[in-house]
Amino acid sequence: MEGGPPSLDGYDTILLTSPIWNVRTPLIMTPFTEALDFRRKTVHPITTYAMSGLGTTERDYAASCPGATIAEGLAVRGEEVKEADSEVQAWLRRSGLPAR
Ligand SMILES: Cc1cc2nc3c(=O)[nH]c(=O)nc-3n(C[C@H](O)[C@H](O)[C@H](O)COP(=O)(O)O)c2cc1C
Repeated sequence: MEGGPPSLDGYDTILLTSPIWNVRTPLIMTPFTEALDFRRKTVHPITTYAMSGLGTTERDYAASCPGATIAEGLAVRGEEVKEADSEVQAWLRRSGLPAR
């Protein structure tokens, strides 16, 4: 990461978003999350997928984000992203995050 990893200071809630690869977060996410300090942060996993939904994402982030609370995730089928607005808005409201 050029200039070092970003700081999470000033953020309470982090949305970690990726596609699903081999039923898990892409491996590139692990050194990224391991370089950050997630203590006292809430992490929501978000994935696009073909078949596997969130896969093992919640467990992957529980392992690579020590100290984080892993909160409800959202999985959106990649082919349906453009039609997923109401699903996303409902998830944002359910999760107590800003929605339209
Ligand atoms: C290397 C690779 C592995 C993948 N593994 C999975 C998988 O295990 N489960 C799944 O549902 N989708 C898998 N996918 C599909 C991606 O999650 C999907 O392409 C991505 O979410 C974007 O959706 P879209 O291609 O429909 O735009 C894989 C894609 C690639 C390139």
